[in-house]
Amino acid sequence: MSNNERASFSGKLGFVLAAAGSAVGLGNIWRFPYLAAKYGGGIFLFVYVILAITFGVCLMFTEVAIGRKTNLSAIEAYGALDKRFKFVGYLTAIIPMIILPYYTVIGGWVMKYCAVYLTGHGKSATSDTFFGNFISSTSSPIIWFVLIMTISFVIVLLGVEKGVEKSSKVMMPILVVLSIIVAVSAIRMPGAFDGFIYYLKPDFSKFSAGTVLGALGQLFYSLSLAMGIMITYGSYMKKHVNIESSSLQIAGFDMIIAFIAGAMIIPAFYAFSGGNPESLSAGPGLMFVTLPKVFEAMHFGHIIGAVFFVLVLFAALTSIISLMETVVSIVYDKLKISRTASCVTVWIGSMIIGIPSSLGFGVWSKVTIFGKSILDFFDFASNSVLMPIVAILTCLFVGFVIKPKAVIDEIESSSKFHFKKFYVPFIKIIAPVLIIIILLVNLQFIKF
Ligand code: PHE
Repeated sequence: MSNNERASFSGKLGFVLAAAGSAVGLGNIWRFPYLAAKYGGGIFLFVYVILAITFGVCLMFTEVAIGRKTNLSAIEAYGALDKRFKFVGYLTAIIPMIILPYYTVIGGWVMKYCAVYLTGHGKSATSDTFFGNFISSTSSPIIWFVLIMTISFVIVLLGVEKGVEKSSKVMMPILVVLSIIVAVSAIRMPGAFDGFIYYLKPDFSKFSAGTVLGALGQLFYSLSLAMGIMITYGSYMKKHVNIESSSLQIAGFDMIIAFIAGAMIIPAFYAFSGGNPESLSAGPGLMFVTLPKVFEAMHFGHIIGAVFFVLVLFAALTSIISLMETVVSIVYDKLKISRTASCVTVWIGSMIIGIPSSLGFGVWSKVTIFGKSILDFFDFASNSVLMPIVAILTCLFVGFVIKPKAVIDEIESSSKFHFKKFYVPFIKIIAPVLIIIILLVNLQFIKF
């Protein structure tokens, strides 16, 4: 297939839902509520919304426009615009290759929990040792990992429109409905309404530079920026589709789901812990250890638990699909092999790379890299180091090499660009400065 036959989304809705499917993932569900509880509820929500509709969408316009302009995935797009910057493409391409295997390992855990709840065994998940025993066993997590990887492989193999787009069009609306069901049930728990108020009420005493940086870091990850995904999806976008309004809709979708996730988790946890939501933890501990206990304390908790894990599965699956599609497009553009061969290569390669992340909690738990488990190390290297570096380089590349006009022209080729005046200082100065600060904080050169 040559580039002018490159696959594409059918139209705006397909693009927006597929990109929103990528954005809405585990980050929305297991990290956003924790950050909101930590950084003062309403004040964090406010900062997050402001940053999403400025910082978040501007970076998204940039990536989508680069993809659509070049019709290429990240690995070739930078080099096609300026040969000297080919290395940024390579650097970007590494990120989804690192994330796909370990993110899918976690997706496998979610699938296991879905199966546990759907088969009526939710109670067993409440024991303190259930999760630890599961992830430290050798075969079970690998089986679930291979299963979810294979489901994603089949969907990606079906193609951009028939696989990626169609699956998002089915899963995303269901996800919204299921999350509203869980949030309403959570808020109706005795004592939970106070937790809902706690979540919404701004606590100004908790506002600090840390609030802004916490929100920024979360935004990056949550909008699937700086990992080549939006470049790839942009390359599948038709020329007449409005980049500005699509990006705003994706960010809006992502924020709404994050907001609803907060409304399911914070009030439920508040009621469960007797009003101490600050003890809410982030990450697997919250989802796989604490929440099953919370469900147990709810009316119809096993049903709500099942609904919850199905929605998380959809959130994880659409993100895994976007990662896999991005890696497939990289392999396809680089190796010039057929799309089917690219899919098979990525499927097998990711399974091989993912297995150590899975074993890192069991037989390989003694293996640590810089003091971290294998999975945590991959997570740190990609999210905390490589992604900010790629984002800084992208801003500088657009700001000073190809010039903001290249992105502006691409956006204006299909619609009016309302953010135009703001975009130039943003991409040249504001964004790179903010992201350099994030990087220094992540590397612990600056502490808040
Ligand atoms: N945006 C996703 C989330 O919030 C995370 C993600 C990371 C998705 C990497 C795809 C790739 O969970």
